[in-house]
Amino acid sequence: MSAHGTPIPMTSVPCGPLAGTADVPGDKSISHRSLILGAMAVGETKITGLLEGEDVLDTAKAMRAFGAEVTRHDDGSWSVFGVGVGGFAEPDKVIDCGNSGTGVRLIMGAMATSPISATFTGDASLNKRPMARITDPISLFGAQSVGRAGGRLPMTIVGAADPVPVNYTVPMPSAQVKSAVLLAGLNAPGKTVVTEKEATRDHTERMLVGFGAEVTTEETEKGRVITLTGQPELKPQTIVVPRDPSSAAFPVCAALIVPGSDVLIPGIGLNPTRAGLFTTLREMGANLTYENEREEGGEPVADLRARFSPDMKGIHVPPERAASMIDEYPILSVVAANASGITMMRGVKELRVKESDRIDAMATGLRDCGVDVEEGDDWWSVTGMGPGMVTGGATCQSHLDHRIAMSFLVLGMAAKAAVSVDDGAPIATSFPIFEPLMSDLGASIHRVNKDAA
Ligand code: S3P
Repeated sequence: MSAHGTPIPMTSVPCGPLAGTADVPGDKSISHRSLILGAMAVGETKITGLLEGEDVLDTAKAMRAFGAEVTRHDDGSWSVFGVGVGGFAEPDKVIDCGNSGTGVRLIMGAMATSPISATFTGDASLNKRPMARITDPISLFGAQSVGRAGGRLPMTIVGAADPVPVNYTVPMPSAQVKSAVLLAGLNAPGKTVVTEKEATRDHTERMLVGFGAEVTTEETEKGRVITLTGQPELKPQTIVVPRDPSSAAFPVCAALIVPGSDVLIPGIGLNPTRAGLFTTLREMGANLTYENEREEGGEPVADLRARFSPDMKGIHVPPERAASMIDEYPILSVVAANASGITMMRGVKELRVKESDRIDAMATGLRDCGVDVEEGDDWWSVTGMGPGMVTGGATCQSHLDHRIAMSFLVLGMAAKAAVSVDDGAPIATSFPIFEPLMSDLGASIHRVNKDAA
């Protein structure tokens, strides 16, 4: 169930070859950041290719509540008239970020150094997720917070009236935490320094530079050290959002496991901090090529061509690659089930605190579909059954998690029997055109009418 809707049960029936071109929507991470930084600039930021999924639309609403003017034009482009760094107004109602951890965490950071208060909430999934990872660092700037037990939403943040810059080492690999600290640092005088032991997606740093902030990144023995000079005047930008590699992962992986498939997925962002899945698939023996490699809007981009790959083998995915493919482990486990041999995934503890506990959610559904999965606190492994050998025939729980729902629907495309999910509604948070796009390629996904059953 989405933040706003009722559950939508769905079934994916084994299908023939997938073929054609898949135009996936804009990058979710970059879309959130475009709206938030646009709201913190002075003047009009123009955005094309914005992902119009529920998560990003909730961030657009939130930016309006903080005083920015956010408009969608008839041609699908967006304008944000920002209020400037430190210019946020105090929202007069609760900010509902729906299912989006990125939305709520980045916005909490962005408002933490303004002399205003805001109360945040989300859906049942978001309200279970840990927020101390944000309230701890923003307290160093001088912000205060009151939430539910365990640092959960709903939560009120009282921004620092007199913020000080901080020097913070992010304790877990998290681009959301790094970004929240950098956004908070924007309205603190002097230099805010963030160190991350493992490199995570760097869209915030890239975009801050684009908006005119002074940001330097240094690789050191301690990790990546990012230094931001506070209180810049951010200059509005024209942003072209590249297509989302995390969404592209679904048609790519479907094509690799459905016999006879050949699918082109154009214009996919291949920022190295995001492209770990594609590297892993190629190591497994996937017939996945990059065509027409180029740069768009400061991000590397290519057209991906994925063809049925019957000879894929399980591998040990290096733990140091985890951050660059953290959202892709669920769909990788589906490919692993259709490969031969064991795929071992280590260093993935963060998967347990995503929209769902993604190791538990995938392990349970895969086992119900006949696949052998083992797991520990920060690792899991999948024993491949070979192409087309997954039994299927189960109804899997999506746990309010879009990527879990889409992964099981892809599993059904290449299984011996259909795979169902109890609720496909969360897919709208990140990939609202998933069903028509996959159907156009030749997939057979049906919404199950419970009343007719
Ligand atoms: C995101 C960072 C990742 C990722 C999420 C998007 C971002 O979360 O899982 O979907 O846009 O910064 P963490 O920072 O918690 O790893």
